[in-house]
Amino acid sequence: MLILGIETSCDETAAAVVADGRRVLSNVVASQISVHERFGGVVPEIASRQHILAIDQVVDRALKDAEVGMVDLDAIGVTVGPGLSGALLVGTSFAKGLSLGAGVELRAVDHIEGHVLSPWLGFDEASVEPPLPMIALVVSGGHTELVLVTAPGAYVVLGRTVDDAAGEAYDKVGRLLGLPFPGGPNVEAAARQGNFNPTVEMPRAWLRGSYDFSFSGLKAAMSREVSRRRALADGGRLPAGAVGEFAAAFQESVADVLSGKLALAVAETGASSAAIVGGVANNEYIREKARERLSVSLYAPAAGLSSDNAAMIAGAAYWNPRVVDLDFDIDPSLRLEEAGKSRLPVSRPGDLARRNEPE
Ligand code: KG4
Ligand code: ZN
Repeated sequence: MLILGIETSCDETAAAVVADGRRVLSNVVASQISVHERFGGVVPEIASRQHILAIDQVVDRALKDAEVGMVDLDAIGVTVGPGLSGALLVGTSFAKGLSLGAGVELRAVDHIEGHVLSPWLGFDEASVEPPLPMIALVVSGGHTELVLVTAPGAYVVLGRTVDDAAGEAYDKVGRLLGLPFPGGPNVEAAARQGNFNPTVEMPRAWLRGSYDFSFSGLKAAMSREVSRRRALADGGRLPAGAVGEFAAAFQESVADVLSGKLALAVAETGASSAAIVGGVANNEYIREKARERLSVSLYAPAAGLSSDNAAMIAGAAYWNPRVVDLDFDIDPSLRLEEAGKSRLPVSRPGDLARRNEPE
């Protein structure tokens, strides 16, 4: 079964063709990072406009790379939430048009579900797929969630962040240390080169008795320590080597809590496998730390499929097919538990007008 995936929930315009929920035939991602960089974060209106400019070329490229035409497709899977409303509307409207024009079935996909099921991509053999039940740690710029997966479409969110997402914390700390945006990969690289200095050890928020996470205290502690070191330094600049030390201390704290809670969830639920998915799953140190602590195998998406992409949307549309009519609506605050249910937001006349009314 051939599925075209379309993803526009945040700042990546992406399209991909996936066969049977596993084989990635094409995976095209047009990133807007350079456009948003100077604002230090994603600007929703700019994101929508960039999606409009890119979407038809991205979809066209994905079909060409996969060497398929619209007539070969069995379905189109599109992200309906969670995400930025204007951005989601571009992808879903485009998908509706394609579906109507080519007579291809439309399937709605939850973005987080796409991440959760992304370890299935890239395999041909059922034997290398993660055994269920699985605990998935979803860590990205907008999300930090610990999810029990008993079957595609059957999810229990055990815990989530009560403040910043893990990737967001990486990005903010990257800015604090004067590293380029996005902070995640740059903080990881700085930490790799930096010496671990026990005198700059950072706090951990364990929130014992729950699977929730918190990173804002760590961020505040980093900010305080960096300011203190700056004040002591000549010319107010961090001394050479301090950036690496701070990056290593921050990463140690994040990796400790993420891997600790992931391992605890596996032990307490008796899950058969674990996975780390989402942009932060690119981080080798966090994966290594998790592997050390886990009693089951750790799965992660294949290269290039951790950060936002549309192959994971096509994959989720295969494993949990939620066929929708053309009148379905986006849901910017969609919750993962809803992904297992057939009920989907359907637009009613006047909905759009109401949404645009001032509060
Ligand atoms: O999944 P993703 O591409 O987009 C969202 O849905 O947010 O995740 C992007 C996030 C950014 O915060 C980025 O800094 C982080 O993933 N990230 C990393 C690494 N690579 C990307 N964080 C830590 N270490 C990395 N190597
Ligand atoms: Zn994402």
